[in-house]
Amino acid sequence: MNQISTGIGQPVSRIDGKAKVTGQARYAAEIHPPGMVYGFVVNSPIARGRIEAIHDEAARAVPGVVEIMTHRNRPHTALFEKSYMDGLGVPGQPYRPLHDEKVEFNGQPVAVVLAETFEAAREAAMLLEVDYQRWPHNADFEAAAYQKYMPSKTRSNYVPPKSRGDARAAYAFSPIKISGQYHLAPEHHNPMEMHATTVVRGDDGELTVWDKTQGPQAIQAYLASALSLRKGKVSVMNPYVGGAFGSGLRAQYNVFLAALGSLMLERSVRIMLTRPQMFTHVFRPEASMEIALAADTDGTLQSIIVDGVTDTSRFEHNMENIVPWGLINYKCPNATADYKVAPRDTYTSSDMRAPGAATGVNLFEMAIDEIAYACEMDPLAFRLHNYSDIDAMHDMKLTSKALREALAEGAERFGWAQRSMAPRSMREGRELIGWGMATGIWDAMFSPTSARATLTANGRLRISIAASDIGTGTYTILAQAASEAFSMPIDRIEIELGDSTLPECPTEGGSWTAASAGAAVWQACQSLRDDLLHALRKAHDAPGWSRKDGVILRDGELHAEDGAQTPLTLEAALRFAGKSVLEVEETAKPGLRGTISQMRKARFTHSAVFCEVRVDEELGIVRVTRLVNAVAAGRIVNPKTAASQVRGAMVMATGMALHEESLMDERVGRFMNHNFAEYHIPAHADIQEMEVLFVEEKDKEVSPLGIKGVGEIGMCGTAAAIANAIFHATGQRHRNLPITPGA
Ligand code: MOS
Repeated sequence: MNQISTGIGQPVSRIDGKAKVTGQARYAAEIHPPGMVYGFVVNSPIARGRIEAIHDEAARAVPGVVEIMTHRNRPHTALFEKSYMDGLGVPGQPYRPLHDEKVEFNGQPVAVVLAETFEAAREAAMLLEVDYQRWPHNADFEAAAYQKYMPSKTRSNYVPPKSRGDARAAYAFSPIKISGQYHLAPEHHNPMEMHATTVVRGDDGELTVWDKTQGPQAIQAYLASALSLRKGKVSVMNPYVGGAFGSGLRAQYNVFLAALGSLMLERSVRIMLTRPQMFTHVFRPEASMEIALAADTDGTLQSIIVDGVTDTSRFEHNMENIVPWGLINYKCPNATADYKVAPRDTYTSSDMRAPGAATGVNLFEMAIDEIAYACEMDPLAFRLHNYSDIDAMHDMKLTSKALREALAEGAERFGWAQRSMAPRSMREGRELIGWGMATGIWDAMFSPTSARATLTANGRLRISIAASDIGTGTYTILAQAASEAFSMPIDRIEIELGDSTLPECPTEGGSWTAASAGAAVWQACQSLRDDLLHALRKAHDAPGWSRKDGVILRDGELHAEDGAQTPLTLEAALRFAGKSVLEVEETAKPGLRGTISQMRKARFTHSAVFCEVRVDEELGIVRVTRLVNAVAAGRIVNPKTAASQVRGAMVMATGMALHEESLMDERVGRFMNHNFAEYHIPAHADIQEMEVLFVEEKDKEVSPLGIKGVGEIGMCGTAAAIANAIFHATGQRHRNLPITPGA
């Protein structure tokens, strides 16, 4: 393989960076079709009941108001008839905006005001009066747990794992044990870009939908089905996405309502949600986990018992993979886990960065710290003592697990060997200092993906794929894969993403895009190179080049291996071959598709997180002063963007540990702190030293290019490392996240 300075493994700066910082990148709410109508959504203030009357005279009197769309006058479409499942495949009936008079959650859209200006739409929305009949509701998680159940139809990886040994007997007979109830507050998505859709209606009624989504093809399929449109009648664009961590995995109500409004008025329509409205849809579920662990006096784990509950809505059965992580990651002869969902009258909880693991790994790793202390063992030594080289839950080999190396390198970098075991043993002035650590684990997934590679007449390479760059660096890493596979400098490569009409790519999520789309791009570029060389060999008028073996592509030029000729430009090669462009499409399918039970080996990313906190003893204020995260994620395509991914997740996990929580007012069933004054996220002052190391991990089996993905691993373990450091600083155990000064 030729080395190229912009290939895989190089710290290339983002190729879309300039477009973003100069404002040339256009987001969903920045498309301005002529004659566009602005929609403003009116949300229900009650959690359950029915709409009895809508008084819209005052609203309609606002100058500029075009229409007020409600369940009574909206156009009839397929979504209102069939039981439609979206791409997430959550069992139940996905919420259908403006379906009928029933209200199923606080914040449910009950009307959309459509007006010539945003201001008119918003003013009229304030003037709309809706009478409701209120029905009893429950929005309290603890009360909901009394109705907890296991949904009958589940996605296979959400079924609680098979037990091994006899965990309850082992717990009873072991000399050392801990048990407790661990809890995570619900969290809402707060990307910089709010959810927004601009529907551009063409002259013959076709819709081009600019949506903030992680999957343009998923939204295209949803709209085509929900609105009974022929596939060619609707396309979806998302070339730039201002941050998305799972809220864009499924269609949010803005996209359906904007498209419905466009059908109703036969005009272009934009709906952009406000920050408070971002709290009326998807959130990370509230979760509780009963964890019981038992060990021998030498620190050998003997029993793991995990019992988890997460919330869901009344109309869908959303499940989270929270319970298996500890059973997978630790050697322990006896283990069992159970899991149920608790229904309440809210919107359906759903995915948020490392769904399941962010909750389950962090809470479990807090319990591991407790049992290590109960065994009077250093938490790092305890983890090494109970290290599993296989997926202990499925008794399966792993494609790779360089967690031991991550623990060693992270500890070295952090200076863990200097740590004193006793809590409250380090202090500076009125600040208690604590050191904690945890391990992280997340899936390393792959999904079949297609890509097109085109060599254009001017000798440039264009890559086209319906992937999304949700801020993760996808443009850049795909350009690097192309640069290396085709041996082309990156400034001659164009990457086309975020368009449902491009070759098929799964929704961006699950940390699978680098591995999947990267492999598709690689394959397409290799096959384009082969085609080019083949066409050149067959050329009649290519002096010295035709029918010649030993031609190689290097640095964007063709070279004779024996050096007998001056290099040939790609433009000239195309001309000799009699082609104006050369184009191929390939699909990467390594035969690793499917659920874990169908695979011969399990695939995970691992990490070791070390943390220093300083706790003000009088005020209870916690500062995270140092974080070191050593990540084993297979091949790293771009150490610069990859480290940014992990750091970003560590910031988010700091929020999970110390700040973020959506507070429910059970009386009205509403998340009340729906703004940045009251919903706290870490700001610059909350984040201090953060270091990310990548541990070498060669893995030929996990995916075609040996990539595992890094979008989510930084969430897993970091919050626990912070919680464990707080214990070390203060001697006080906190089992509920976030840990706030009031706790
Ligand atoms: Mo992520 S929750 O797969 O966007």
